[in-house]
Amino acid sequence: MPQPDDWHVHLRDGELLKNVVQHTARSFSRAIVMPNLRPPITTTTLAEQYRQRIIKCLPGGVSFTPLMTIYLTDNTNSDDLKKGIHQGVITAAKLYPAHATTNADAGVTKIENIYPALKILSETGRPLLVHAEDASPSVDVFDREKIFLEQTLSPLRLKFPDLKIVVEHITTREAVDFVYKNNSHVAATITPHHLVINRNAMFQGGFRPHAYCLPVAKREEHRLALVEAAVSGESTFFLGTDSAPHTRSAKESDCGCAGIFSSPTALAVYAEVFEREGKIDRLADFASRFGAKFYNLPVNSKEIRLTKKEWKAPLEVAGLGEDRIRVFQGGQTLQWSLD
Ligand code: NCD
Ligand code: ZN
Repeated sequence: MPQPDDWHVHLRDGELLKNVVQHTARSFSRAIVMPNLRPPITTTTLAEQYRQRIIKCLPGGVSFTPLMTIYLTDNTNSDDLKKGIHQGVITAAKLYPAHATTNADAGVTKIENIYPALKILSETGRPLLVHAEDASPSVDVFDREKIFLEQTLSPLRLKFPDLKIVVEHITTREAVDFVYKNNSHVAATITPHHLVINRNAMFQGGFRPHAYCLPVAKREEHRLALVEAAVSGESTFFLGTDSAPHTRSAKESDCGCAGIFSSPTALAVYAEVFEREGKIDRLADFASRFGAKFYNLPVNSKEIRLTKKEWKAPLEVAGLGEDRIRVFQGGQTLQWSLD
C-alpha cells in the first residue's frame, strides 16, 4: 500500500520529541502535528521553528514531513494565519475549546472570537481541526462530544458553509452521523484505540490510567459505530492516531494526564481491526488515500508492506530520563508487521 499518513499526532518537544518522533516517522510519511505545546504554537513563526526542531530530531536518512498546525486562541491574528498558509508553513488550524484537554487552557472561550480566522480558512480551503468537546463543568464527561456537535459545530456549519472541518478523534455514533450528514465538507479522524477499547477498559480490575484519553472512550455501541465507519469505504473517515505520549509518572498520578501513546503499534492495530471485519482491502484507502484527498495533497508515492506476521510490541519506550512511556497494546503479540 502507499505509505500511510497520520492526520493527528502529538510529537511534543525537547527530549520527548527526540524520543517519540522516530516512532511516527517509521510508519508514516507525513503527519498533522498538534500545536498544544506549552506555550502553544499560536503563530506562523512558532510553527516554523517547531517544524525545524522536529526535522532536527529525525534519525538520519529518514524522510518524514511534519505538517504544521496553528493553535487558535481568542486573540489569533488572522493576517498571520493568512501569511502562514500562503508561505506554506501552516496546513491547518486547530480549535481547542478552552480547558477541553491537555494544554487547552489557552483555547477558545467563545467561538465568535475565531470568526476572522475561520473566514481565512474558508477562503483558502484549509481545514479547521476540531477537538469537539464541550468542556463546561455542567456537561457530563461522556456527553461532551454530542453536546459540542449539537450546540457549537452544527450552527458553525451554517455560518461557514464552505469551511472544511475535521472532527478529530471521534468517539460516538452521533459524531459518525454528523459526518455523514455534512458530507463533502466534514470529515473525521478515528484513532486505533477508540476502535478497540470501550470505557470498560479504564476500569478493568482497577483504575487503568493508560486507557484514559480525551475524548474518553465511550460505550460499546459507540465503538461499534466507529468500526463500521472506519471500514465503510467512505472517504470522509480516515486515519489519525491521536498518539499522545505522556510519561508514566504523568499518567500514574493524582491528576493523571489524558493521552494514549500508539505510534509504534497503530498500523498493526488498525490492520487487525480491518481484518477482523473482513475489510483488509479497504485499509489502504483509510490509511493512505482518504486523508490526502481531504487535505488536497498527493497520495504518497513510496509504498510499504504490512505482512501477517506476529511480533511482540514493546511495553514501553524512552520518555524523559528514566521516566518511560507506555505503548498502547505494548507487551502484547500483534498480528501484522511493517516490513
Ligand atoms: C492529547 C494530549 O495529551 O495532548 N490528549 C488526549 O487524550 N488525546 C490532547 C488531545 O488530543 O485531546
Ligand atoms: Zn490529540
